[in-house]
Amino acid sequence: MRMLRIAHISDTHITGESAYKSYAYDLIVNEINRLDFDFVIHTGDVTNQGLREEYERATYELGKIEKPLVVLPGNHDVRNVGYKLFEEMIGPLNGVYEFRDGVVIWVDSTIPDLSDGRIGGHKFRWLRRRLEEYSDRKFKLVAAHHHLVPLPDTGRERNVLYNAGDLLGLLLLHDVNIYTCGHKHVPNVYRVEDLIVDNAGCTSCKKTRRGDVNSYNIITLHDDGRVEVRIRRVTGEEKSAWYKPLRPKIFIPRGKRLLRIVQMSESNVSDRIYFRRKVLENAIRIINERLKPNLVIHNGDLVDMGIERYYERAIEFYEKVRAEKLIVPGHNDITYLGYDLFLEYFGEPETFEFGGFAFLPVISAQYETPIGVVGRIGQKKIAKWLEEYRESFTVVIMHHNIIPVPRSRELGFLEDAGDVLRVLTEGRANLVLTGHGGNTFGVKVEGTPIVNAGSISWELHRNPFGNSFNLIDVYEDMIVAFEVQATWGTRRLIGLWKIKEALKS
Ligand SMILES: [Fe+2]
Ligand SMILES: [Fe+2]
Repeated sequence: MRMLRIAHISDTHITGESAYKSYAYDLIVNEINRLDFDFVIHTGDVTNQGLREEYERATYELGKIEKPLVVLPGNHDVRNVGYKLFEEMIGPLNGVYEFRDGVVIWVDSTIPDLSDGRIGGHKFRWLRRRLEEYSDRKFKLVAAHHHLVPLPDTGRERNVLYNAGDLLGLLLLHDVNIYTCGHKHVPNVYRVEDLIVDNAGCTSCKKTRRGDVNSYNIITLHDDGRVEVRIRRVTGEEKSAWYKPLRPKIFIPRGKRLLRIVQMSESNVSDRIYFRRKVLENAIRIINERLKPNLVIHNGDLVDMGIERYYERAIEFYEKVRAEKLIVPGHNDITYLGYDLFLEYFGEPETFEFGGFAFLPVISAQYETPIGVVGRIGQKKIAKWLEEYRESFTVVIMHHNIIPVPRSRELGFLEDAGDVLRVLTEGRANLVLTGHGGNTFGVKVEGTPIVNAGSISWELHRNPFGNSFNLIDVYEDMIVAFEVQATWGTRRLIGLWKIKEALKS
């Protein structure tokens, strides 16, 4: 069978000293030259400070690679106006490389003198036009320096692009097969729906994390659509993951419905003009009279501020909900005296079981900051709970989003999202529900569907569908998630996800 092999290197951080020598770099490049690769992608941080001597050295070092080479800039390359030198001495900052059956589109995600990344308006539109232009290609790869999905072991920051949610939405819409990147020197591979997110580690500098060694990734594209990504360390240790795209993508649920959840968020009950009382009342009526769920989950920001008057109003609304309720606080709920009031009015959120289902509420909100944290102890608790309830269908519930959401700008992010995402995917959580960012989004990461709710009744949202809530039906073999428009009750499909081992009714 025909196949195509790509070597993915990154973060060489080449310095300009005359005695520069990297054994890891030479080892990896010799291997790449010797083995059968069709081309090589370098996802940035070619140099350490973007200086002239560094670029000179880098040109020499990159010249050792005897295969077609795609190189894009990282945050270190654009320091000290290094992007000018990059264009002069290495190549274009954005571009397209065509190969048999496929295409690599690379984008400059850097912001001069900052470590953070963004694919700004012009570049975003340029990328969209390229994806339209090459829509007929069997293999579509998009490459940039910064992360698309939060990675574990990256420390405090998540280091995803500011507009990672928009990019993720765009790549999924255009059936992109692989997103390749580098940046925080942590090799990792995730599957997000049918998109493979391939992070290279650090090919040749000393700044590896958690005592790791240098590595590069090997991407193999098979003619039948399967993709293999192998992380190959200089020690010879290898870790491989295989991906096969799902076909067909539309399924019909089998058997009876076992559970119906209504998921809502950011009602922000208050007397401010942005709170749409009628919309919330209407939504509650739709839920009670038409949808009749087993459980209503509110993912936080129940009130706009943690004051008594707002909690008094909030409880009036939520007393009308007839189904069982599970409410986790958001960052608005615990401002001022909010945490005490939350406990007084709604009680401590508690784990519970329901048939073969188990629910774990997690408090990610922090006092007086929109930034969320689960924390190292919190992560251990989640891991332990997932292990304990392995036999059940596990649902983890928190306020802050773990995967980037389109149109949201990741300001109130979950600080340790990378580590939390690893705990959830490795612990094979069956469903994760979040409710921050004011927009609805749902994707399956590895085996775990993650669904974010938009705002049910707050005018300041980012959702083109308007105020809405989610309706999630669990069948024996499948999860079906809809978004329901809060005023009209019309539905839009968020996602259909198969359950590996069918549940018993
Ligand atoms: Fe780097
Ligand atoms: Fe970087």
